[in-house]
Order: sequence, then structure tokens, then C-alpha cells
Amino acid sequence: MAATVVVGTQWGDEGKGKVIDLLSENADVVVRYQGGNNAGHTIVIDNAQFVFHLVPSGILRGKKCVLGAGVVIDPRALIEEINELRSRGIKITNRNLLISRDAHIIMPYHKLSEQITEEREHSRLGTTRRGIGPTYVDKMARAGIKMSDLINRKVFLEKLSWHLKDINLVFRRIYGRRGFSLKRILKEYLEYGKFFKGYVADTSAIVNKAIESKKNVLFEGAQGTLLDVDFGTYPFITSSNTVAGGACTGAGVGPTKIDEVIGVAKAYTTRVGDGPFPTELTQKSKQEAMRIRGKEYGATTGRPRRCGWFDAVAVRYSARINGLDKLAITKLDVLDDLPRIKICVAYKYRNKILKDFPTEIEIISKVKPIYEEVNGWQHDITEIKKFQSLPVNARKYLKRLSELVGVEIFLVSVGPRRSQTIFL
Ligand code: GDP
Ligand code: IMO
Ligand code: MG
Repeated sequence: MAATVVVGTQWGDEGKGKVIDLLSENADVVVRYQGGNNAGHTIVIDNAQFVFHLVPSGILRGKKCVLGAGVVIDPRALIEEINELRSRGIKITNRNLLISRDAHIIMPYHKLSEQITEEREHSRLGTTRRGIGPTYVDKMARAGIKMSDLINRKVFLEKLSWHLKDINLVFRRIYGRRGFSLKRILKEYLEYGKFFKGYVADTSAIVNKAIESKKNVLFEGAQGTLLDVDFGTYPFITSSNTVAGGACTGAGVGPTKIDEVIGVAKAYTTRVGDGPFPTELTQKSKQEAMRIRGKEYGATTGRPRRCGWFDAVAVRYSARINGLDKLAITKLDVLDDLPRIKICVAYKYRNKILKDFPTEIEIISKVKPIYEEVNGWQHDITEIKKFQSLPVNARKYLKRLSELVGVEIFLVSVGPRRSQTIFL
């Protein structure tokens, strides 16, 4: 395995959690490198379900877990997640969970400013309202607060006092709000600082050392390629680099150290939140049927996910941006009942045929999908363990996806549980 990056190739929720859980059996270190608790990664073991938001999924197998510099951390949410996992018998200490000193902190004003912009029709993006975007804004504006600041009382007080002056000006004069009390934030956050003191480390050194000593390191991507801040459907994106390159900047590892990039794609497509989605099912009843069958409700916000056909144009674009070596196809079982299945092979825009994914919002929101239709298999595949045992039409479907995307499939998931997996 060596150093492997796992990324979502669509709009998130591809089943990265399940794939990472499978691969982490052979991993020594599991690293989250971007995003925050906007993520929801689900793992089902027997009848127990775990949803991870910030803690890397490798914690379930007792692996060393790292939150890199590129992650944004809501300290309260992380403490709640740790406590919840502990209450379910999972051991979490500062030996198996380490947090980068350079990771930025989500503050109360980040959450409120996002709430305000999300409540205004013209600026609404359908975010998870976790304060992710505003925290990355402050990071880039060089006004952020890092984990290393949080655990140092003097520095934290200094930084917060001068930031809050500007922040309160904006909240009072522009948003007409009361502003934030320095004393109140200090009281709450210094407690968090105490909690996390032992967990904060130079995690780039830890990850690089693991790679040097030939340990297996797994980089757990969050969200998906089409939500990437540079390469996604901007502005309907998240505020981090969700693509494989983000693993380097977000974990502090050079590109020469990465051995393999794995993409995860659903056998169809979903999207939660606003923004263009060319293959979204137009018939409400069909969309609803797919949502029910795939249990497509957000793992973080519970929102119903929008559903549609597999978009080979989009995933082929992901293969390029991420430099994918291999593909994992998940949720193939969700298509079990369908007599006919559609695959989007190109887009039509005005009088032109587009084979490459356009990121211009004006174009991507107006393209019409060009479909190829194939026969379904209409057979329950959830207990099948071997590729050769899959119905012939299911095998044909997978081969066609691989051909269109231009990447070899190495894993097919036919249900949420660990055992419901076919390795090719
Ligand atoms: P992630 O954010 O990419 O980790 O994906 P989520 O956990 O948000 O959403 C994927 C959902 O699909 C979860 O509820 C998983 O338990 C479930 N799931 C994963 N793989 C499969 C599969 O092959 N078949 C079915 N039916 N469900 C799956
Ligand atoms: P995982 O890791 C699906 C979406 C939100 C919204 C946009 C911006 O579980 O795949 P944000 O709160 O990040 O500023 O919201 O991004 N979004 C996700 N969609 N899966 C996720 O994570 C997501 N994280 C954010 O719905 O459209
Ligand atoms: Mg998810």
C-alpha cells in the first residue's frame, strides 16, 4: 500500500468511509488532510454504524490517526465526536490521535457569518453550516487561529483580542448584530485548549517518518473532486482542495512520496446542496425511488441527497485532476431492480458536443447529458463475493464505466458492510 491517497470523484458521499475502512486494515497511519466536520463518513460493521466527521476512520481499527494542517477543526465538535466514540468502546488517546499544530480553528463567528450568508437568498450555496468556508477565508486572509495558538493561553488571548475588534465591527455595522464577547469565547476556548494540549504535534514530521520507515500511510479524502475549490463547480463547492494534490499540501508531504491515488465513485451520482448536476433525474418519482433504495440522506445534515445517473464525463475529469491509478465503484446494488440504466457519455451545450467537463458555471449549469442506455441485471447482488459471479449485465456495466473513465476498477461494493465487497 505504501502512501495511498483515497479521494471522492463526484460530489462527495461516494462511500469513501467504507473503502477507507477496508484499506485501513493494512494501514499503519490514517491521515485526514482537508475539510472539517462538513464530512460524514459512514462505516457499517455487523449491525453497528459509525459516522465519522473529523476523526479519521482508521481509529476503528486502532490505527494511528492524524489530522493534518489542511483540516479545519471545530474543537467542540471534535471533543463531542471523541467522547461519542469512547462511549462506544473505541480507545482514543494522544498516542493514536494527533492534530497538526498548523490546523486552523473554527470559531463561533465563522459559524454565525455562514449562517447569515446562507439565510440570504442571493448568497446561499446550501452549505453544511459548520463554518468551514469562513474559517478557510480567515486562513487565507492571514487572520486565522491555529491549533498551536489555541493551546497557548498568551498567544490565543493576544490574537483573539485584535481579531475580535475587526470581527465585531463587521457584525455590528454590516450585519446589525450584537458582536461577540471576548471573555465568553476565551472561557470556552481555553478549556478546549487544555483538552487538546497533549494531542497537538508536528504531524508532517510524523507522517513523513512513517513513510520513510516504509509504513503504510492512507490519506483519507473528504468531500469530492467536483466540490474542489479550484477544480469543482465553483462557487457551488467547498472551500478546500479535495483533490489528491490536497493530500500533499494538507498533510505536509511532498508529491514524490505518494505512491498511489485511488478514486471512489458511486455507480450512479448524488449531490447534496445547491449547484449544477447535469445527470440529476428529472422525474421526481424516479429520483425519490433511487434515494430510498440508496438511503441517500446526508450523513452530516440529514438532508435528502439529489440523485441521478452515472456521469462518465465528470468522473473522467476527476481521473485526470487526481491522476487516478485505480477506481472503487460503490453502491452497485442500488441499481439491482432497474430494467434499464443510463450512463452519461458526453454533454450537449448549444450545438456543440462536449467530452470534457466544463467548470464555467454558465456552461455546466446548462449542458444536457447525452446518454447511452444499457440493460440492467434485475438480480440481488448483495451477497455476491466474486466478480465472475456477478450477472453478466452488471459486469458489462462495470466494464463500460471503466472504459469511459479510463481507469481500472479494483473494488466493487455491493452493500454497506465490510463483507459486501468484491476485490477484482
Ligand atoms: P462518504 O462520505 O464518501 O464516506 O460516504 P457516506 O458515508 O456519506 O455515504 C455513503 C453511504 O452509503 C453510507 O450510508 C454507507 O453506509 C453506504 N454504502 C457504502 N457502500 C455501499 C454499497 O456498496 N451499497 C449500499 N447499499 N450502501 C453503501
Ligand atoms: P463527505 O466527506 C457531500 C457540500 C455541501 C455544500 C458544499 C459546501 O461526507 O463526502 P461546506 O459546508 O463544505 O462549505 O458546503 O459542499 N459538502 C458535501 N457534500 N459530502 C460531503 O462530505 C460534503 N461536505 C460538504 O452540501 O453543497
Ligand atoms: Mg459523506
